[in-house]
Amino acid sequence: MSGNSIEDGFDRKIAEMGIRIKDGNQLKVRDDVLDEITLLSLHRLAHKKWITAIGGSISTGKEANVFFAERESQDLAIKIYRIRTANFNAMSEYIVGDRRFSGIRKTRKDIVFAWTRKEFSNLTRAYEAGLPVPKPLVWDRNILVMEFLGCDERPFPQLRSVHPENAEEIYHGVLAFIRDLYQKAGLVHADLSEYNILMGDRMYVIDMGQAVTPDHPRALHFLVRDIGNVNRFFSQKCQVREEREIFTEVTGIPQKAKT
Ligand SMILES: Nc1ncnc2c1ncn2[C@@H]1O[C@H](COP(=O)(O)OP(=O)(O)OP(=O)(O)O)[C@@H](O)[C@H]1O
Ligand SMILES: [Mg+2]
Repeated sequence: MSGNSIEDGFDRKIAEMGIRIKDGNQLKVRDDVLDEITLLSLHRLAHKKWITAIGGSISTGKEANVFFAERESQDLAIKIYRIRTANFNAMSEYIVGDRRFSGIRKTRKDIVFAWTRKEFSNLTRAYEAGLPVPKPLVWDRNILVMEFLGCDERPFPQLRSVHPENAEEIYHGVLAFIRDLYQKAGLVHADLSEYNILMGDRMYVIDMGQAVTPDHPRALHFLVRDIGNVNRFFSQKCQVREEREIFTEVTGIPQKAKT
């Protein structure tokens, strides 16, 4: 048992919703993650049987916490954006300018909910275009439910912590991802790096909240940055291509790497 009464209280509330807490997995999270709004969203997801069990915390990021969860026997990842501690200003920069979200109010809560919906919508576009991203399943307010990428409740490692022999092949896979994301899904990832690529049976790209459509005023700037990040990482491991050439191949815009 956890000795912290707040954590115990949350565990009890979650159990009361009919969500099983998997053995040995106390929800050791601060109360700024599982606030009342989040509990209500979890409750709704449990009621609709989207989530039947919740496991341990997989990650505590700048904006969100990721947990392992289950729907019957299906493994899930649930990403919970924190309302109180979310980096509201950074989120606004990516939402303002995206035509899909022009009508939203600008309170902290509304921005976080829009952000969650945006990540769901971005994942859906990418997944439907056949790209290697986790399959998005459902969202509710600040909670995104998606396919779990990993095995035995452990996520696949990030690219930064594996030492693949076939670095060149992976590099070309990542470039193909950037190209197809732009051309088939109409998106620029905007935070692509070795942290947001998981290595399982193949590579997967995650963390799509900040991805923008090509008509976003900063889209080409973000694309140049993504290409730069990928080249920086792979230049230590294999031969990399010229950044301008990649930019042109992705966008069809001749020789205009600087924006
Ligand atoms: N679908 C998934 N399956 C398995 N593990 C996942 C999945 N999504 C995220 N993770 C795990 O959680 C970690 C953080 O996820 P992600 O990059 O989406 O959030 P983040 O970087 O914390 O986002 P932000 O910084 O915007 O809050 C990943 O590195 C991975 O270990
Ligand atoms: Mg990330």
